[in-house]
Amino acid sequence: MILVLNGPNLNMLGRREPEVYGRATLADLEAACVDAGQELGVDVICRQSNHEGQLIDWLHGAADEGTTGIVFNPGGYTHMSVAIRDAVAAIDVPVIEVHLSNVHARERFRQGLITTGTAVGSITGLGVEGYRLAVRFLGRQP
Ligand code: DQA
Repeated sequence: MILVLNGPNLNMLGRREPEVYGRATLADLEAACVDAGQELGVDVICRQSNHEGQLIDWLHGAADEGTTGIVFNPGGYTHMSVAIRDAVAAIDVPVIEVHLSNVHARERFRQGLITTGTAVGSITGLGVEGYRLAVRFLGRQP
């Protein structure tokens, strides 16, 4: 099973700064991930929270739930949360960090990526397609 985890403000997709994040809603994004999983015969479950502790609890519990890979967009926590970085480092389940926008091409305060270093890899700037690619990568892991 692959877990797609979205952090703060990603519930606002579609309405939130569409010039930056596009018009797809969170439901659209999650449906694309489920479809990508189905193509590989892998179950995909999707969760979103605006709360740091909830995201950390889901990361900690992932292995016990039978999760074999996590696609994770930590949203703004990417740039500020040592606790989320530590949670990703604490688990054995591989995490791919995904960002809809190209954070490297944006404001200076987004250039610091605290969480990314503990992920297996990251995809940034490819919109919903980045999530699909991450699901496909994780779904192909032995
Ligand atoms: C984001 C980029 C972050 O800088 C921002 O805080 C978000 C979304 C992205 O998907 O592009 O909330 O993670």
